Amino acid sequence: MAVIPVNIAQRPYEVRVGTGLLAEIGAQCRGFLRKPAVPIVTDVNVHAAWGQVVEDSLRAHGHSVHWRILPAGEPTKSWEELAATVNWLLDLEVERGDHVIALGGGVIGDLTGFCAAVLKRGCKFIQVPTTLLAQVDSSVGGKTAINTPAGKNLVGAFHQPSLVLADLAALESLPPRELGAGYAEVVKYGLIDDADFFAWCETNGAAMLAGDEALREYAVAHSVAAKARIVAEDEFETTGKRALLNLGHTFGHALEAETGFSASLLHGEGVALGMVLAARYSARLGHMSAASAERVARHIADAGLRAEISTLGLSCDGGALVRHMLHDKKMDAGTLPFLLMKGIGQTYLDKQVQLDDVALFLDDELVRAPS
Ligand code: GLY
Repeated sequence: MAVIPVNIAQRPYEVRVGTGLLAEIGAQCRGFLRKPAVPIVTDVNVHAAWGQVVEDSLRAHGHSVHWRILPAGEPTKSWEELAATVNWLLDLEVERGDHVIALGGGVIGDLTGFCAAVLKRGCKFIQVPTTLLAQVDSSVGGKTAINTPAGKNLVGAFHQPSLVLADLAALESLPPRELGAGYAEVVKYGLIDDADFFAWCETNGAAMLAGDEALREYAVAHSVAAKARIVAEDEFETTGKRALLNLGHTFGHALEAETGFSASLLHGEGVALGMVLAARYSARLGHMSAASAERVARHIADAGLRAEISTLGLSCDGGALVRHMLHDKKMDAGTLPFLLMKGIGQTYLDKQVQLDDVALFLDDELVRAPS
């Protein structure tokens, strides 16, 4: 097992990465769960796959489990589920010193974390991420949120978990498409500030995705360590450091919005395309070489992810995609800071980007022939 400390001032916690952590969740949570009753929020799919394993382990450690089993998918991150889940926790008389467990992917982690952030002005919670994307990104760093009719993740809070348990065994039952979408966030850490890790991904990504356990542990632990370093430096995204984690997200979010946040483009798939676009746009501006940008596109494609937006079959133009970007949380007094690259592993925040020019770039990308 790898143990990665997240050194947030006053509230440090551990991310534990290994195989079999769900089966030993009772032992892993010793010292955190102070009462016999344990509230767990999950979704139907994760409950079907892991509910019994988790319950058996907690029972063996003297706990009884109260389950809240929600529908899988983004619509669960709603005002309605937030209110209902908070009321459920209140009915269970959860106190501020108690822990709620979030067992699932990003949707469950974000919703449960936000419930914990507001319950009695903040109770404790433990993240038990079961998707690759949640293990390497959303479960670490304390961003919690719900979606509203105005957009995704527009209402939320920073609220750090007390512990994160990332069981690699959970990845074995993950559909390959979900695994690939999560892999985009792994590659992101290489592109942000770690060219050696990007090269590691080029060499080992395929075997890691195919199931090599040692490579998976390395990829998840290395990604978590990168995120922990950034979050410890800039917990509330005020200095610009944490904003680097949004690489690929502005382009990706516009594509997700244009496809209706539907199953036709998963979040990680949008991020993968967004990173290719960020690289190509950086090359177009002369900040990085075209060869490096195409190296990014090639690795995304080699990982089985879509690397060309022309293959999405969108009927919009670049201007329509840019209009989606205007709802981005990073909008600041009429300008939108972009994450661009000076090279692989050299991402930076650019506040000079002209949205009209981005629209022209996207017009070209929308008709670019796949190589
Ligand atoms: N997923 C981006 C962040 O946690 O800051």
